[in-house]
Amino acid sequence: MPTLGSKELVAWLPIIFGLAKGSTVAIPELAYPTYAVGAMMAHANIETYVTADDISDSVDLIWVNTPSNPTGQVLGVDELKAIVARGRKIGAPIVSDECYIELGWNATPISILDRKVNDGDLTGLLAVHSLSKRSNLAGYRSGAVAGDLKLINDITSLRKHAGMLMPTPVQHATIAALGDVAHVKEQKAKYGARRDLLHTALTSNGFSISHSEAGLYLWATRGEDCFTTVDWLASRGILVAPGDFYGTAGAKHVRVAMTATDERIGQFASRLA
Ligand SMILES: Cc1ncc(COP(=O)(O)O)c(C=O)c1O
Repeated sequence: MPTLGSKELVAWLPIIFGLAKGSTVAIPELAYPTYAVGAMMAHANIETYVTADDISDSVDLIWVNTPSNPTGQVLGVDELKAIVARGRKIGAPIVSDECYIELGWNATPISILDRKVNDGDLTGLLAVHSLSKRSNLAGYRSGAVAGDLKLINDITSLRKHAGMLMPTPVQHATIAALGDVAHVKEQKAKYGARRDLLHTALTSNGFSISHSEAGLYLWATRGEDCFTTVDWLASRGILVAPGDFYGTAGAKHVRVAMTATDERIGQFASRLA
């Protein structure tokens, strides 16, 4: 089902699924903030997890994000299988946000809809995709959710009455973008070149990089409070996101984005030095 970008689906899904006060949403310990926003909009509780074993019996919806924003971590088949098994055991839908899936650098991201993960059984599983990163089309607001037909039918019935319909011109643009891989390769090559530059500059200036095997960010640390690092970089004219925006476990990291222009990224090394 087409969505108006992936963010609105992430925000509204708990309400669409009927979650309310007393419900619980499980989100990764370090996560894109909209998973928590969606839980708050439904007045649901939030529980964070690192591995499937951390997810409690009372959870009503599980968010997975691979590759992760902010860490760039990619979940392997076994990790995904464990989350799927846990969700099915407790009867909670498992929704995997895969909007960075085309952007693997040192790992090949895998979808929750891959047979290697689910043996061909999509019960309780959804994957969320977007053209924003893959095709650099964030302004078009084009995303999609796919998976368990029963869940998709439930979502579609409610959303069409709530007016969350993708405009026809955007549908046509989406079909064109999904039918072409050349521009995806070109875009990925641009990000890859920026990533190499940022990676070298950071590691030769006292930063360590954690995860970051995929996606649009480098998850970097100098082993100090993230706001000290943010200040240090800001004094050199470099803007990064403090890691604790994404959860307290990120308190010593900053998120460095590959989304600035080539010209700006080109200045990164000299400004750092
Ligand atoms: C993990 C994750 N999900 C979803 C989105 C939303 O993207 P969009 O609404 O443009 O598809 C983002 C954007 O940064 C993101 O990082």
